[in-house]
Amino acid sequence: MSLDPHIIKSYQSSQFSKASKSYDQVAHVQDVMAKQLLACLLSKLEMDSAEQLSRSNSLKHTSIFGSTLQGNDAIGPIKSSHQNMPYTSNRYVLELGAGTGICTASLLRHLAPHFSHYIVSDLSFQMMQANRCLAQVQGRAVMDACVPALKRAHLVVSNAMVQWIPNLTDHFSSIYSLLEPGCIYVCTGFGSKNLFPLYEELAQVGVSRKYQPMHSLEQIEDSATLSGLNLLRYTEWFYEQEFSSVLSLLQQIKMLGAGGSPEGIKISRKQIQALEKNWSFLSPTGQVRARWQPWLGVFQKPLAEVSNPKNK
Ligand SMILES: C[S@@+](CC[C@H](N)C(=O)[O-])C[C@H]1O[C@@H](n2cnc3c(N)ncnc32)[C@H](O)[C@@H]1O
Repeated sequence: MSLDPHIIKSYQSSQFSKASKSYDQVAHVQDVMAKQLLACLLSKLEMDSAEQLSRSNSLKHTSIFGSTLQGNDAIGPIKSSHQNMPYTSNRYVLELGAGTGICTASLLRHLAPHFSHYIVSDLSFQMMQANRCLAQVQGRAVMDACVPALKRAHLVVSNAMVQWIPNLTDHFSSIYSLLEPGCIYVCTGFGSKNLFPLYEELAQVGVSRKYQPMHSLEQIEDSATLSGLNLLRYTEWFYEQEFSSVLSLLQQIKMLGAGGSPEGIKISRKQIQALEKNWSFLSPTGQVRARWQPWLGVFQKPLAEVSNPKNK
C-alpha cells in the first residue's frame, strides 16, 4: 500500500525542520552537488554567450535562460556582464527546496546580474528560516515543489531535493507550467544506486527499505516526457564518504531526513551491532564507507508548446 503524498510531505517537512540546525555540518555531498550544479549553469551561460557572439547581428532569438536578445547586445563572459544587462528586469529565478542555502549563496553570486528576482522556497519553515541568503532573496516557506510557486520563471533550480518528491511527473508538470518557453530547470538528486551497498547490508540484518526508492534514469526520462520537458543533459556519478562507524553513518542519514516516509528506517541496537560486525564496505584504514549516487539533469521547456494531457 503506498502512502498518501501529503502524509509523506508533512513528515519530511517536520524531519527537515528538526534537522535544520545541524544540517550544514553533515551536508557534504549536498555541497559537492551544489558545486556541480553551479558549474553546469556557468557552462550553459558561457555556451549561451558564445552562441550569441557567433550569431552576431542575427535577429532576436531566445536563449536557454529565456533572454530575448538583440544581435548587438550579446552577453559577454559572466565576469564582464555585470554592467550592461538591459534584459534583467522582470526575470525570475526560482530555487526549490533551497534549505539552508548551500546552493543559494553561490548561485546568487553568479546569477544575480542576469535576473531581477531570486526566489527561494522550501517545504520546511525552519530550513527556510536558516537560509543564509534570506536577506538578499525573496523567501517562500512551505512551498511544495509539485505546485507551481509563481506565475512564471526564467530559470528553476533545485539541489538535492528531487529525491524527496513522491510524484516526479507532478513535479515536472508544475515546472513546465511556470517556465517560460525555451527556459531550463537544472536540478540534482540522488539516483537509484544511492547508498548501495548500505541497503543490501541493512536487508541482510533484517531491516527492509520501507521508504521511497530513489528515481532511476528511466523514471526521470518518462516523467519529463509526460510533462512535456526535454531532457537536455543527464550525468550521474558516485561520491564516497567515510565514517568512524556504521552508527555515525546511520545518524547522518537520519539527520538529513532520510527515512523519507513515516515508515522510515527502524533499526534495533542488536541490528546495528550485526551491521558493524558484517560491514564489508570498509576503507583500507578500516573506516566505514558510504557511496552516494548523485545525478544532475537539465530540462528544457520547448520553445513551442507541446500538446500533452498533463499540461492542458
Ligand atoms: C537535502 S535538503 C537540500 C537543501 C538544499 N537545497 C541544499 O542543497 O542543501 C532537501 C530540502 O528539500 C526540501 N523539500 C523536501 N520535499 C520538498 C517539496 N516537496 N517541496 C519543496 N521542498 C521540499 C526539504 O525541506 C529540504 O530543505
